Amino acid sequence: MKKLIVANWKMNPATKREAKRIFELIKKGTAKIKNVDTIICPPFVYFSVFEGLPLGGQNIFYKQEGAFTGEISASMLKDMKVEYVIVGHSERRKYFAETNEIINKKLKLALKEGLHPIFCLGEKEDEDKILILEKQITEGLKGISRQNIRDTVIAYEPVWAIGTGRNCPALDAVSSILFIRKTVAKLYNRGIADNIKILYGGSVSADNAIQYLKEPEINGLLVGGVSLNAENFIKIVRSCG
Ligand code: PGA
Repeated sequence: MKKLIVANWKMNPATKREAKRIFELIKKGTAKIKNVDTIICPPFVYFSVFEGLPLGGQNIFYKQEGAFTGEISASMLKDMKVEYVIVGHSERRKYFAETNEIINKKLKLALKEGLHPIFCLGEKEDEDKILILEKQITEGLKGISRQNIRDTVIAYEPVWAIGTGRNCPALDAVSSILFIRKTVAKLYNRGIADNIKILYGGSVSADNAIQYLKEPEINGLLVGGVSLNAENFIKIVRSCG
């Protein structure tokens, strides 16, 4: 399966000028790298200055339109030619109280508008991984059809590994991803589950990326902090080649 590398810039960088500088470097540096798709998920305000790489949002609201001050809809992203949207990131779960139920509504709306949601899952350090993943998957995907699930990307991101420098050992990530795939197969079927891209995320660096990318079970990476460093991010994309 073709690898997918997603840059999650979070609430960075501080200026349009810097955003454009990083974007252009990444575009140029990844242009000739084959067999990999690279997606940039910048803050919404930078979409209009970027051209030449597929883009993703970092969030959407769960209503289609209306009086929801400060929110952005799935259809607005679609209209901006944005193709992907991150849904259920652990920072949204933590700081914005997003529940599995809210995430489920967001996934459904994203799919209805023809976006590819990047559905984030992962356990906290003190949680039972299997129980949590199973709950996040079944509640998050509730009511999503066989047809629609095909457009979804899943990202396994153990919460304790995000932004901490403590990346999850690749073999542990593989075993979690196998469990996620098995759970998706139970809800849908094996064929569908085998065709869904499942990424790893959490303290991915230019040095450790290859450990994940060499595993056939890991279909790509969701990269946070390091994706703002064009040189290191390009190295990560190059590790797919
Ligand atoms: P990190 O973030 O690479 O900075 O750990 C990953 C993420 O939050 O998606």
